[in-house]
Amino acid sequence: MNELYHPPRHIVRNANVKDYEALYQRSMEDPEGFWADEAKKLKWTRKWNKVLDDSNKPFYKWFAGGKMNIIQNAIDRHLETWRRNKLAIIWEGEPGDVRTMSYHALNREVSKFANVLKAMGVKKGEIVTIYMPQIPELVIAMLAVAKIGAAHSVVYGGFSTEALAARIDDAKSRVLLTADGGFRRGKITDLKSIANDAIQRSPTLEVCICVKRTGHDVYMENDRDFWYHDLMNLPIASPNCATEVTDAEDLLFILYTSGTTGKPKGLMHTHGGYAVYTSTTHKYVFDIKDEDRWWCAADPGWVTGHSYLVYGPLINGTTLMMYEGAPNHPYPNRWWSMVEKYGITVMYTSPTAIRGLMRFGDQWPKRHDLSSLRLLGSVGEPINPEAWRWYHSVIGGGNCPIMDTWWQTETGGHMITPLPITPLKPGSATKPFFGVAVGVVDENGAEVAAGEEGKLVIKTPTPGMARGIWGDPDRYVETYWKDYADKGWYKAGDSARIDEDGYVWVIGRIDDVIKVSGYRLGTAEVESALVTHPKVAEAAAIAIPHEVKGNAIHVYVILRQGITPDKALEEELRETVGREIGPIAKPDKVIFAESLPKTRSGKIMRRVLKARAMGQDVGDISTLEE
Ligand code: WT7
Repeated sequence: MNELYHPPRHIVRNANVKDYEALYQRSMEDPEGFWADEAKKLKWTRKWNKVLDDSNKPFYKWFAGGKMNIIQNAIDRHLETWRRNKLAIIWEGEPGDVRTMSYHALNREVSKFANVLKAMGVKKGEIVTIYMPQIPELVIAMLAVAKIGAAHSVVYGGFSTEALAARIDDAKSRVLLTADGGFRRGKITDLKSIANDAIQRSPTLEVCICVKRTGHDVYMENDRDFWYHDLMNLPIASPNCATEVTDAEDLLFILYTSGTTGKPKGLMHTHGGYAVYTSTTHKYVFDIKDEDRWWCAADPGWVTGHSYLVYGPLINGTTLMMYEGAPNHPYPNRWWSMVEKYGITVMYTSPTAIRGLMRFGDQWPKRHDLSSLRLLGSVGEPINPEAWRWYHSVIGGGNCPIMDTWWQTETGGHMITPLPITPLKPGSATKPFFGVAVGVVDENGAEVAAGEEGKLVIKTPTPGMARGIWGDPDRYVETYWKDYADKGWYKAGDSARIDEDGYVWVIGRIDDVIKVSGYRLGTAEVESALVTHPKVAEAAAIAIPHEVKGNAIHVYVILRQGITPDKALEEELRETVGREIGPIAKPDKVIFAESLPKTRSGKIMRRVLKARAMGQDVGDISTLEE
């Protein structure tokens, strides 16, 4: 791992941060001063009393006493400058239709929809669920909800009825914002039908607003379902709407993510700290300038989309690109043709997407002039050096540094990441961001020597960190903070090592979380999906390394007495998981077993299954019961 890539001189010369060490040291010596300086660059209705309030650890508060609505910064303040007429969004649909919106136009749409939501009785503090394809209305909906002081819960458009219903239920949403469907690989995804089934199950849902995207026939229930375009044409949809004043610590959104056990948890993020953290990281890590055309290819349904497709870029007044469909539709050059067409300067995607497109060969990107690119980004899982080199040389032409950013739904923004000036080692997320101290510890919580593998911990509170788990504060403490309570450290759930040069190498999850194509799933979720099938008695899910997806899910299934396994049942079980969670969770392999390796206390030893499946030594099995 001695490969070192130095950033090109023109990048260093123009970088927003020129001296990482000095600023990092400042951020460690005086974190509150550092974050106050960044916060001052934003617009506040009232300044904070205290930068960091740690009187109730680990429930940290940032900029307490301050009043700021993130929309004041993502939209309102740009209207007072030349950026009013700057493009905010360039959107391309999968069929090739294009829409663009200036900050002025975005404000009109958001304000109109904010007024619609108010007319529908949406109140400050309530959680509005959003289930949409990647269309501009998804962003407009998020911003409109935030503008009136309510909170959003965006559910990824690839999730199934069950997953959507569970999230609506947990958030007790009264209003659902959806669309008839979206385009993906030339087909229509039927979101409204899925939404209809989910609403049927919900005791709280009263109103559903539906965007017409595909125009196919959908069922609309009288007095419950409303077309977005109808409402936006009513007099109530006035383009003037004052942004609600919110406290810095008021809830901005919850976002569900998978954990080790039980149902997905809704991580909470608030207006002030999240605004400061996403804009600061976006500006420094991606070296954002006013001339940039930024493309974060993630779906807004994930945290990457929240922080770096929507909020960070808009707060920085950036022109962002958004694309509805599949990267290889109709051909594997789709992404590269858009980079050329729109003159994208900074692009941010996942190792899975890079590997997937790499597979089609160099001829596809080579057909396009990608010289507008200045910087590249990667997120979601470790990037293997081979994919890194391809991204660097074929896409970046050998002179675009790659920002391999490590972070989580929980952290709200980048935690370990290079800056454009950082010498890079392919596969390493390099160094902690400003204000972030990290460590790698052993079973007893003691720090390991350089180069040794251990558990990744975060030692400092940061403004973008989640404020808790919706409706379950104990679980928040239990999951992340209990193990190192004496030291006040946060358990990331990943294993990592830090080399002699202080570079962090994140290896992967050490809990029962699986990253499939960068998507985060819990083994528990997959297993409970399987046991909903009447023929299944018990199930265990494991992750097996996969060339494109990073990991693939393999499941071991014990059938009920008297049931004989066959190919059809195997397919049925894969479909069951798809129906319960979503297509991304479908296992690659279903293995029928007679028994599962368990500890005496009855815990499935997935590690043993995995070692066996990979032909490795099963290790210490002294706790194995059978
Ligand atoms: C988990 C968090 C961060 C937004 C998308 C994922 C893995 C994320 C990297 C990276 C190695 C990474 C970790 C982490 N991960 N980025 N650059 N290198 N691993 O957010 O769905 O909450 O998943 O993704 O395992 O814990 P998330």
